[in-house]
Amino acid sequence: MTYDFVNPPDRRGTDSQKWQKYAGKDILPMWVADMDFKSPPAITAALQERVAHGIYGYARPVKSTVDSFVNALEQRYGWRIDPAWLVWLPGLVVGLNLTAQAYAESGDEVLTLTPIYPPFMSAPKNSGRVSRQVPLRLDPATHRWEIDWAALEAAVTPRTKIFILCNPHNPIARVWRRDELVRLGEFCVRHNLVLCSDEIHCDLILDELPHIPTALLGEEVARRTVTLMAPSKTYNVPGLGTSIAIIPDDAMRARFVRASAGVMAEVNILGFTACESAYRDCEPWRQELLQVLRGNRDLILDFVSRELPGVTVEAPMEATYLAWLNVSALKFADPIAHFEAHGVGLSDGAFFGVPRGTHVRLNFGCTRATLTEALQRMKRALPAR
Ligand SMILES: Cc1ncc(COP(=O)(O)O)c(C=O)c1O
Repeated sequence: MTYDFVNPPDRRGTDSQKWQKYAGKDILPMWVADMDFKSPPAITAALQERVAHGIYGYARPVKSTVDSFVNALEQRYGWRIDPAWLVWLPGLVVGLNLTAQAYAESGDEVLTLTPIYPPFMSAPKNSGRVSRQVPLRLDPATHRWEIDWAALEAAVTPRTKIFILCNPHNPIARVWRRDELVRLGEFCVRHNLVLCSDEIHCDLILDELPHIPTALLGEEVARRTVTLMAPSKTYNVPGLGTSIAIIPDDAMRARFVRASAGVMAEVNILGFTACESAYRDCEPWRQELLQVLRGNRDLILDFVSRELPGVTVEAPMEATYLAWLNVSALKFADPIAHFEAHGVGLSDGAFFGVPRGTHVRLNFGCTRATLTEALQRMKRALPAR
């Protein structure tokens, strides 16, 4: 290993939201989705250089920043985009909220598949739109989360305007396949829906699976698509608040920009710097990160199956650093409180749209040592056999 994924700095007592939650308590924070690793050294060097310049005025991305992102999309996914399609955002959740405001009226409906990252459900509600959720179905034969196509069709009403996709899907760690994406694209075309495709985790695929940008599925789909991407998850720079909406259709993009007028903050200058370096200089670091995350993923699979009776990983974990654990057999009324009492801070499945007590989410973007300790603590939290 060239990079250090073993001895990161201690985040206790810092501005870390993740670690502040349990300040002063012996609870390992395995919840909010940032990693405990240092960002790539190239990003830090670029930021240091930018800071040394000493002037931090209002910024616009320079050509090298745009080129870095555009080139990465072409090299990694074969997606050739026109820089004019980009709208820079101070966060990806901002993009989810703007999408709801730009393409739906008050009372209109926004569809998504659950369990899902909570802002997919709250963003529409923030502006008086209605969130409609279609539960994914765990196929007992394939052990994969599948789209319930009949339920998805049945959920459409004359007021449905937007479908929000998460690919790869947080929290089930699933990479959607080409045939599924094609079918989703057809579904959106048939019902005349805007397709918002959150691809923030697309550079964190752990298995040998391709990421297929939704907008690559053809003209008709691309024309109705808002793709949301960011360097934040992969390169651990979410605190720098830099995300990107890619909107090929001019009229769609104009509506999106109009919805942002007066309420959207400028993108932070340091975020532009980090973004440029991330997509251009940090591929070797990303490859090592993926190795570390694969190791952590495999440790979880092994440990859960051998040492945590009553806890199950229901489906393959193909992407992200987030593990979705079924704990329903434990019959804890409040699994989060229970595991916290034993020193592990997890995310509550209830926030992702499933009944409380059935699932928890564990963030394994941490050192092997922290993960091992968290799993040992979870083991001690289980009822005696
Ligand atoms: C699917 C997904 N979208 C968006 C975000 C957050 O994006 P941001 O912090 O840029 O608003 C997350 C964070 O976990 C996420 O998992």
